[in-house]
Amino acid sequence: MKTPFVMAISFLLLAFAAKPLVGSRLHDINGDDVRADQEYYVLESGNGRGLTTLRHRGDSCPLDVAQVTSAPRTGKPLKFKAYNSSRFIYEAVDLNVKFSIVDSCSDSLVWKVDNYDEERGKWFITTGGNEGDPGAKTLLNWFKFERIGTSDPATYRIVYCPSVCASCLFLCQNVGVSFEDSARRLVLKADYEPVFPVVIFPAEGAAKCESRMPVHYNS
Ligand SMILES: *[C@@H]1O[C@H](CO)[C@@H](O)[C@H](O)[C@H]1NC(C)=O
Repeated sequence: MKTPFVMAISFLLLAFAAKPLVGSRLHDINGDDVRADQEYYVLESGNGRGLTTLRHRGDSCPLDVAQVTSAPRTGKPLKFKAYNSSRFIYEAVDLNVKFSIVDSCSDSLVWKVDNYDEERGKWFITTGGNEGDPGAKTLLNWFKFERIGTSDPATYRIVYCPSVCASCLFLCQNVGVSFEDSARRLVLKADYEPVFPVVIFPAEGAAKCESRMPVHYNS
Protein backbone atom coordinates (compact mmCIF):
# COMPACT_ATOMS: atom_id res chain seq x y z
CA MET A 1 0.00 0.00 0.00
CA LYS A 2 1.21 3.47 -0.81
CA THR A 3 1.93 5.84 2.00
CA PRO A 4 -0.21 8.95 2.20
CA PHE A 5 2.91 10.99 1.43
CA VAL A 6 3.53 9.23 -1.87
CA MET A 7 -0.12 9.63 -2.76
CA ALA A 8 -0.01 13.32 -1.97
CA ILE A 9 3.04 13.71 -4.17
CA SER A 10 1.42 11.92 -7.09
CA PHE A 11 -1.67 14.10 -6.78
CA LEU A 12 0.54 17.16 -6.83
CA LEU A 13 2.35 15.92 -9.92
CA LEU A 14 -0.95 15.22 -11.61
CA ALA A 15 -2.20 18.68 -10.76
CA PHE A 16 0.89 20.27 -12.30
CA ALA A 17 0.83 18.04 -15.35
CA ALA A 18 -2.79 19.00 -16.08
CA LYS A 19 -2.20 22.72 -15.70
CA PRO A 20 -1.80 24.62 -18.96
CA LEU A 21 0.86 27.28 -19.24
CA VAL A 22 -0.43 30.58 -17.98
CA GLY A 23 0.92 33.98 -18.74
CA SER A 24 1.28 33.64 -22.51
CA ARG A 25 -0.69 35.92 -24.74
CA LEU A 26 -2.99 34.54 -27.40
CA HIS A 27 -1.52 34.92 -30.86
CA ASP A 28 -3.40 35.44 -34.08
CA ILE A 29 -2.49 33.64 -37.27
CA ASN A 30 0.22 36.21 -38.03
CA GLY A 31 1.86 35.71 -34.64
CA ASP A 32 0.60 39.06 -33.33
CA ASP A 33 -0.79 39.45 -29.80
CA VAL A 34 -4.57 39.21 -29.62
CA ARG A 35 -6.06 42.42 -28.22
CA ALA A 36 -9.31 43.18 -26.47
CA ASP A 37 -10.03 46.18 -28.69
CA GLN A 38 -9.90 44.34 -32.01
CA GLU A 39 -12.20 42.03 -33.92
CA TYR A 40 -11.23 38.51 -34.95
CA TYR A 41 -12.59 35.50 -36.72
CA VAL A 42 -12.23 32.14 -35.01
CA LEU A 43 -11.62 29.57 -37.74
CA GLU A 44 -11.25 25.83 -37.64
CA SER A 45 -7.62 24.96 -38.23
CA GLY A 46 -7.20 23.10 -41.50
CA ASN A 47 -10.46 24.01 -43.22
CA GLY A 48 -10.76 27.69 -42.31
CA ARG A 49 -14.46 27.61 -41.50
CA GLY A 50 -15.49 30.33 -39.07
CA LEU A 51 -18.26 30.72 -36.53
CA THR A 52 -21.61 32.37 -36.87
CA THR A 53 -25.03 32.60 -35.25
CA LEU A 54 -27.96 30.39 -36.18
CA ARG A 55 -31.53 30.02 -35.12
CA HIS A 56 -31.84 28.17 -31.84
CA ARG A 57 -32.68 24.46 -32.22
CA GLY A 58 -36.11 25.08 -30.77
CA ASP A 59 -36.43 27.94 -33.26
CA SER A 60 -36.58 30.77 -30.79
CA CYS A 61 -33.97 32.97 -29.15
CA PRO A 62 -31.22 32.95 -28.03
CA LEU A 63 -29.23 32.12 -31.16
CA ASP A 64 -26.99 29.09 -31.29
CA VAL A 65 -23.29 29.48 -32.03
CA ALA A 66 -22.51 27.38 -35.09
CA GLN A 67 -19.86 26.78 -37.69
CA VAL A 68 -20.44 28.17 -41.19
CA THR A 69 -21.19 25.75 -43.97
CA SER A 70 -21.33 28.29 -46.81
CA ALA A 71 -19.74 31.60 -47.85
CA PRO A 72 -18.48 33.79 -46.36
CA ARG A 73 -16.39 31.11 -44.77
CA THR A 74 -15.01 33.43 -42.12
CA GLY A 75 -18.38 33.68 -40.38
CA LYS A 76 -18.90 36.63 -38.06
CA PRO A 77 -16.24 38.70 -36.33
CA LEU A 78 -16.00 38.57 -32.57
CA LYS A 79 -14.18 40.16 -29.68
CA PHE A 80 -12.62 38.78 -26.53
CA LYS A 81 -12.86 40.38 -23.13
CA ALA A 82 -10.87 38.96 -20.21
CA TYR A 83 -12.41 38.71 -16.74
CA ASN A 84 -10.01 41.44 -15.60
CA SER A 85 -10.45 43.57 -18.73
CA SER A 86 -6.78 43.27 -19.67
CA ARG A 87 -5.71 44.97 -22.88
CA PHE A 88 -4.13 41.80 -24.27
CA ILE A 89 -5.80 38.39 -24.19
CA TYR A 90 -3.99 35.56 -22.41
CA GLU A 91 -4.06 31.78 -22.72
CA ALA A 92 -6.12 29.79 -20.26
CA VAL A 93 -7.77 32.88 -18.77
CA ASP A 94 -11.53 33.36 -18.41
CA LEU A 95 -12.90 35.32 -21.36
CA ASN A 96 -16.19 36.62 -22.61
CA VAL A 97 -16.51 35.90 -26.32
CA LYS A 98 -18.84 38.27 -28.12
CA PHE A 99 -20.00 38.51 -31.72
CA SER A 100 -19.80 42.05 -33.12
CA ILE A 101 -22.72 41.86 -35.52
CA VAL A 102 -26.25 42.50 -34.33
CA ASP A 103 -28.66 39.71 -35.15
CA SER A 104 -32.35 38.87 -35.22
CA CYS A 105 -32.61 38.18 -31.51
CA SER A 106 -32.47 41.10 -29.13
CA ASP A 107 -30.34 39.13 -26.64
CA SER A 108 -26.70 39.99 -26.10
CA LEU A 109 -24.17 38.50 -28.48
CA VAL A 110 -22.03 37.16 -25.62
CA TRP A 111 -21.47 33.40 -25.67
CA LYS A 112 -22.85 31.26 -22.90
CA VAL A 113 -23.49 27.60 -22.16
CA ASP A 114 -27.23 27.19 -22.69
CA ASN A 115 -29.55 25.14 -20.48
CA TYR A 116 -29.10 21.40 -20.91
CA ASP A 117 -30.96 20.26 -24.04
CA GLU A 118 -32.66 17.09 -22.84
CA GLU A 119 -34.01 16.12 -26.23
CA ARG A 120 -30.54 16.12 -27.80
CA GLY A 121 -28.63 15.22 -24.66
CA LYS A 122 -26.17 18.08 -25.03
CA TRP A 123 -25.08 21.43 -23.69
CA PHE A 124 -25.17 23.91 -26.57
CA ILE A 125 -23.32 27.22 -26.80
CA THR A 126 -25.62 30.15 -27.50
CA THR A 127 -25.58 33.92 -27.41
CA GLY A 128 -27.54 35.84 -24.79
CA GLY A 129 -24.84 35.65 -22.10
CA ASN A 130 -23.93 38.31 -19.56
CA GLU A 131 -20.76 40.28 -20.07
CA GLY A 132 -18.31 40.79 -17.20
CA ASP A 133 -19.23 40.54 -13.51
CA PRO A 134 -17.04 37.45 -12.88
CA GLY A 135 -18.47 35.15 -10.21
CA ALA A 136 -21.01 32.42 -9.50
CA LYS A 137 -23.84 34.30 -11.23
CA THR A 138 -22.00 34.44 -14.53
CA LEU A 139 -20.41 30.98 -14.40
CA LEU A 140 -21.87 29.91 -17.75
CA ASN A 141 -20.42 32.89 -19.62
CA TRP A 142 -16.65 32.24 -19.46
CA PHE A 143 -14.49 30.39 -21.95
CA LYS A 144 -10.76 29.82 -22.20
CA PHE A 145 -8.48 29.37 -25.16
CA GLU A 146 -5.70 26.85 -24.55
CA ARG A 147 -2.85 26.32 -26.95
CA ILE A 148 -2.52 22.92 -28.62
CA GLY A 149 1.06 22.01 -29.46
CA THR A 150 3.80 24.49 -30.24
CA SER A 151 3.69 24.73 -34.03
CA ASP A 152 2.83 27.90 -35.95
CA PRO A 153 0.36 29.33 -36.49
CA ALA A 154 -0.79 29.14 -32.88
CA THR A 155 -3.66 26.67 -32.63
CA TYR A 156 -6.08 26.55 -29.72
CA ARG A 157 -8.89 24.56 -28.24
CA ILE A 158 -11.79 26.35 -26.61
CA VAL A 159 -12.48 25.20 -23.08
CA TYR A 160 -15.33 25.68 -20.66
CA CYS A 161 -13.59 25.57 -17.29
CA PRO A 162 -14.29 28.82 -15.45
CA SER A 163 -12.02 29.98 -12.64
CA VAL A 164 -14.19 32.95 -11.71
CA CYS A 165 -15.81 31.10 -8.79
CA ALA A 166 -13.52 29.05 -6.56
CA SER A 167 -16.37 27.40 -4.65
CA CYS A 168 -18.46 26.43 -7.67
CA LEU A 169 -18.55 22.81 -8.87
CA PHE A 170 -18.72 21.98 -12.56
CA LEU A 171 -17.07 19.72 -15.10
CA CYS A 172 -14.35 21.16 -17.32
CA GLN A 173 -15.15 20.38 -20.94
CA ASN A 174 -13.93 21.22 -24.41
CA VAL A 175 -16.06 23.19 -26.82
CA GLY A 176 -16.55 21.26 -30.03
CA VAL A 177 -18.91 20.86 -32.95
CA SER A 178 -21.90 18.57 -33.19
CA PHE A 179 -24.11 18.09 -36.23
CA GLU A 180 -27.63 18.74 -34.91
CA ASP A 181 -30.76 19.94 -36.69
CA SER A 182 -28.96 20.29 -40.04
CA ALA A 183 -26.14 22.48 -38.71
CA ARG A 184 -22.74 22.26 -37.13
CA ARG A 185 -23.49 23.67 -33.70
CA LEU A 186 -21.09 24.33 -30.86
CA VAL A 187 -21.54 22.10 -27.83
CA LEU A 188 -19.62 20.93 -24.78
CA LYS A 189 -17.69 17.75 -25.52
CA ALA A 190 -16.31 15.03 -23.31
CA ASP A 191 -12.55 14.83 -22.86
CA TYR A 192 -12.21 11.67 -24.94
CA GLU A 193 -13.87 13.24 -27.99
CA PRO A 194 -11.74 14.84 -30.74
CA VAL A 195 -10.66 18.41 -30.03
CA PHE A 196 -11.98 21.27 -32.21
CA PRO A 197 -8.75 23.09 -33.17
CA VAL A 198 -9.05 26.78 -34.02
CA VAL A 199 -6.86 29.64 -35.18
CA ILE A 200 -7.51 33.33 -34.57
CA PHE A 201 -7.68 35.52 -37.62
CA PRO A 202 -7.67 39.34 -37.44
CA ALA A 203 -10.87 40.74 -38.97
CA GLU A 204 -9.06 43.94 -39.87
CA GLY A 205 -7.32 43.40 -43.20
CA ALA A 206 -8.80 39.93 -43.53
CA ALA A 207 -8.43 39.99 -47.31
CA LYS A 208 -4.73 40.76 -46.99
CA CYS A 209 -4.11 37.75 -44.77
CA GLU A 210 -6.27 35.35 -46.75
CA SER A 211 -3.30 33.89 -48.59
CA ARG A 212 -1.55 33.03 -45.31
CA MET A 213 -4.36 30.83 -44.11
CA PRO A 214 -3.40 27.16 -44.26
CA VAL A 215 -6.62 26.11 -45.88
CA HIS A 216 -7.18 22.66 -47.33
CA TYR A 217 -10.37 22.54 -49.27
CA ASN A 218 -11.39 18.96 -48.87
CA SER A 219 -15.15 19.31 -49.04
C1 LIG B 1 -5.24 40.02 -16.11
O1 LIG B 1 -4.97 38.63 -15.90
C2 LIG B 1 -3.87 38.12 -16.61
C3 LIG B 1 -3.82 36.63 -16.38
O2 LIG B 1 -4.30 36.25 -15.15
C4 LIG B 1 -2.61 38.84 -16.17
O3 LIG B 1 -1.50 38.32 -16.86
C5 LIG B 1 -2.77 40.31 -16.45
O4 LIG B 1 -1.63 41.01 -15.98
C6 LIG B 1 -4.02 40.86 -15.78
N1 LIG B 1 -4.20 42.22 -16.26
C7 LIG B 1 -4.76 43.18 -15.53
C8 LIG B 1 -4.95 44.49 -16.21
O5 LIG B 1 -5.11 43.01 -14.37
